[in-house]
Amino acid sequence: MTDMALETALATWDGELMVSHYDHPTGAWMLIAVHSTRLGPAVGGTRMKAYASLAAAVHDAQQLAAGMTYKLALSGLPYGGGKAVLALPPTFDPAQRALLLRRFGHLIAQLGGLYRTGPDVGTSPADMDLIAEIGAPYVFSRTVGAGGAGDSAPPTAVGVFAGIQATCAALGLPLAGTRVLVQGAGSVGSRLLALLQVAGAQTLVSETDPAALQRLRLDASVTVIEPAAAYATDCDIFAPCALGGVLSAETIPQLRCRAVVGSANNQLAQPADAERLRARNILYAPDYVISLGGALAIIGQETLGWSREEAERRVASAITQTLTEVYASARDTGATTTAAAQALTERRLADGPPSL
Ligand code: PHE
Repeated sequence: MTDMALETALATWDGELMVSHYDHPTGAWMLIAVHSTRLGPAVGGTRMKAYASLAAAVHDAQQLAAGMTYKLALSGLPYGGGKAVLALPPTFDPAQRALLLRRFGHLIAQLGGLYRTGPDVGTSPADMDLIAEIGAPYVFSRTVGAGGAGDSAPPTAVGVFAGIQATCAALGLPLAGTRVLVQGAGSVGSRLLALLQVAGAQTLVSETDPAALQRLRLDASVTVIEPAAAYATDCDIFAPCALGGVLSAETIPQLRCRAVVGSANNQLAQPADAERLRARNILYAPDYVISLGGALAIIGQETLGWSREEAERRVASAITQTLTEVYASARDTGATTTAAAQALTERRLADGPPSL
């Protein structure tokens, strides 16, 4: 994106506030997108990676923050949606990481609770501990040792698994024997594969990082698919669990699955891709529905006193119920599942903060 696109991104976004801070010692940009505080303070993870441009980083933060607004609204929690991006320079020195995270904690503290963070792609509970040194109490998902609920990947995977079960039910497929292709064997994808195997599903995986694949091969019997072949591989359910934008005018015609159900944020490259999926009769679990488990479980454990078991139960039932409702309403109205989920989300936002 060019500089002009940066201006366009800022001017056309429907969110409330975009905070930017340039970290002079490292050359990293700290970006915080506060999309909506309609239901409460904005919550969303911190993504840390290098981007092609500042405009691309701003746009990613904006889109991810909107997704968090929808996740929190559907979770029934009194929080809004936001997201942070730490956009690293191409030459980032890893020795600077802890200092950068502490300075980011300072920025969070300055916002006084308007935005509360958690982990996301590129950050971990150990990173949350560093951010919380200055940013507490506005930091979710610290390590258990530091008093937090720890990693959000396990409950996220539990939620995706529940969503796959609900999708199988909607398609009239028994989960045992169903072929699920998991794209990305990272923190969520690898756990999802384990849950699917226990349930007797046939698992396939594609992963671009040989080290992640190696870790998986040690303890799992899955069919490995070349990343380039993932879209065109015959399966029942395609589960994108890596980065966003994977469902596009280019990939959707290649798909040979009956449903797409995965944890990656912002899976549709364009809004029109929802219609492309429907036209191909592929059932799509809207990404912010299927992936709300991490935030719901961690916030429930840290603010409502839920045990880990209770959090997982609530994640499974919230996603099963919401997805079943979305599928039914899409079927009855002829709308895409994306439009059906959007309508449900807008009703929750219009209702205002839930009373817990
Ligand atoms: N990365 C999580 C998501 O995208 C955000 C999150 C995790 C927020 C844990 C709070 C606690 O949904």
